[in-house]
Formats: sequence, structure tokens, C-alpha cells
Amino acid sequence: MARFPRAINLIRAVLGLSFLSSALAFTPGFPYGSQKVRGVNLGGWLVLEPWITPSLFDNTGNANIVDEWTFGSLQSKATATAALTNHWNTWITEADFAAIKAAGLNHVRLPIGYWAFEVGPGEPYIQGQLPYLNKAITWATNQGLKLIIDLHGAPGSQNGFDNSGHKVPTPQWHSNNTNVQRTDAIIKTIASMVRDNPTNVPIIAPLNEPAGFVSAAVLSVTKQYWYDSWGNIRFPYGTSQQSNTVELIHDAFQPLSYWNGVLTSPTYNGVAMDTHIYTIFSVPEVQMTQAQHISTVCGKQSSLSSFDLWVIVGEWTPAATDCAKYLNGRGVGSRYDGSYPGSTRVGSCTGQTGAASTFSSSYKTFLRQFWEAQVISYEKGQGWIQWLWKAENADEWSYQAGLANGWIPQNPTNLMFPNVCG
Ligand SMILES: *[C@@H]1O[C@H](CO)[C@@H](O)[C@H](O)[C@H]1NC(C)=O
Repeated sequence: MARFPRAINLIRAVLGLSFLSSALAFTPGFPYGSQKVRGVNLGGWLVLEPWITPSLFDNTGNANIVDEWTFGSLQSKATATAALTNHWNTWITEADFAAIKAAGLNHVRLPIGYWAFEVGPGEPYIQGQLPYLNKAITWATNQGLKLIIDLHGAPGSQNGFDNSGHKVPTPQWHSNNTNVQRTDAIIKTIASMVRDNPTNVPIIAPLNEPAGFVSAAVLSVTKQYWYDSWGNIRFPYGTSQQSNTVELIHDAFQPLSYWNGVLTSPTYNGVAMDTHIYTIFSVPEVQMTQAQHISTVCGKQSSLSSFDLWVIVGEWTPAATDCAKYLNGRGVGSRYDGSYPGSTRVGSCTGQTGAASTFSSSYKTFLRQFWEAQVISYEKGQGWIQWLWKAENADEWSYQAGLANGWIPQNPTNLMFPNVCG
């Protein structure tokens, strides 16, 4: 697969540059590059994740319901629709947007699945998310927050994770061109929806976490898809007129240096890079001491500050274990306590996850230090969006719980440990 834009995009790029005034007029809806992105993800709302809302899954009484696909396929449509509708109406409301704004944040990233837009034959997804996407845009507008629309699941699954909608052993998105074309069409739809509203929806992230670690084929399809999505997002009018919407590509789990020279100026504009930093999804990582977790994130600063695109750390967490129930999948255990297949016990998960009322004061102090180390480090790039605003029963991940229990400051620039990275 060619690692350059399809001809149509190249022609558009050249036309765009020839209209010098329109190229110079590119004005994103937020001053990326001069002000820091500070935000939260609204995970577990329009794309279900068992660990964020375990009750939705436990209430099915069926242990084989492990993702949104099986939520649709393994129970009656009426039951699933009723549960989803109640969830959509209650999990996130405008009060959450107001609280996010009051916490001094400026962005929310909203994951949504392809199935909100289009469901193919044999796909059991239940639709109904789009009115909530529109509500979210209205609430962000009312509250003065910037909304990032993040396509979190693509046909065939781009990573096989439950949070792509369909937990599968081998991702299929990249291996079937129909899947990619369907995804392109959805990005065009989203880009058209928001093209005249960059103030409130400044960014589209055309695909969350494609599994670049699976194969070279995933990376090559993903790279072409980023180029094609640039055309779809930056030229949504069907003419040489550019939008002011930013394309937020993802590093596909590669070092940032892998993407050197991809979608960079002067041929391209309006592109930012999303990288996700977790220190808990392998045995060696959960074996790290608290100090090692902190030094690991502090060690990201130079790669974030030196990359040639704006870099936003679009997912990260103050959690330093994988203890949260169902975090590794419904019915799957944790590496930290040795209940995950092939892991060796590091310690007990008691007091590491669940309700903040069970957290010791020294653990809460660590959460604050780890949170501050990440905020300091990620602001060496363009900023950060924490995963996530709220979870049913994993307060170590929850921005809302951190605010309520003191390990996240009411103003994100009020640091207690400004020298935590040394
Ligand atoms: C490719 O994916 C589409 C759905 O996007 C499906 O209908 C088709 O059967 C798939 N083709 C192959 C060869 O798997």
C-alpha cells in the first residue's frame, strides 16, 4: 500500500495551497500549540465497556455478554434496547459537562462506535446513540467545552478489544477493504456534521487504537487511512475549501518516531497526534514500584515535546494496577493479584480499586503524585485527556472521584508536587 495520499487528496492539497488565503486562514477551534489541552474522556457511555459499568453486564445474567456486540446478540432486542436507553439517558448528562467545566478542564473526548451511524447485515448492534452525540455537542457548546468526536470502534474491529465493540481474537478491520471503506464513509458523515462548528467540535479522531502491534499490514492500512481521513476531515465541502476541523491520528502503539514525516506541513495542516500512556497492561509494568511508575511517565517528556505534530496524550490514568473489576475483560482477572492467566501475584487488589472510601491516605497521596507527574509531563506536549470522567466502581480511574476525594485538584494547575519529576 502506498504511503502517500491518494491522488485526490494530493490534488486537494495542492489546490488548498494555491488558495494561499484559505491555507493561511486555518483557524482551529482551540489555540493548539499555545494553550494546553486539559480534559477527560466520556468512556463507557456511547460505547459500552464492562469494567466501566459492570452492573450493565452483571444484570444480564449471562456471563457470555462481554461487549456491545454480545450485548445485542445474546439477549432479546427489547431487553438490550431498554437497558441501553436507560444508560444513555443517565450515565452522562449536562450536569457532568458543567462539573467538567467547573474543574478547570477545556476538552472532552467522546468515544462512539461505527454502529451509531450504520449497521451491516449480521451485525447485532443496537442503534440510538446519535441523538446523544448531538446532545453532547449542545452541552459542550452550552458549557464552553471543546468536544472531540472519537471513532472508537470500526467494522471488523481495529484492535479486537472489547472497547472496540467486538472482542475478537484477531482484528479484521484492516484485512477487508469493505470495512475500511465503510469507516471512510462514516468519517465523511461526521466531518459534514461538524464542519461549520469547529468552535465546539474542533477535532475528529478517525480511529481509536488500531492494533499496530498485530502486523505490518495493520500499520500500512492505518497509515493510508490517516491520509484518506485527512482529506475527508479537512475537505468536507466537496470543493477545495478547507474546514477548520483538526484530524487527530493515533500512533497505533508505535513510538512517535515511527510517524516522523507523516502528515506534516507544509503539504498538510490541521493534524495532531494522539498517544495513550498506560503503565499497567503487562506483567513487568504491574511489578513496578510506585516510584518507577512515576519515573516512567516523567521519562516521556522529551519525546512528547520534540515531535513534529501537536501531541495530545488522549488516554492515561493515575491507576497503577490493573485491579479494576473486568478491566482486562469481563470474567478476566488481574495481573497484579495473579488472577490473570500467566501472571505472578504482586499483591492484593484490596484497597487498590473500588470505592475511594477503601483507599488509604498514603495511596491517595500516591495517586496525587502520579496524577501530577503525568499532568506535568504531558503538558510538555500539547496536553492531556484523562481516561476517564467516571466509572461505577473503579475510583482510582475516575476524575470525578479524584476531585471528590482530593487526589485531583479543583484547578488542574494547582500542583502540590511540582518537582515530582525531579
Ligand atoms: C468484509 O466485510 C464486510 C462487512 O464490512 C462483509 O460483508 C464481507 O463479507 C467481508 N468480506 C470478507 C472476504 O470477509
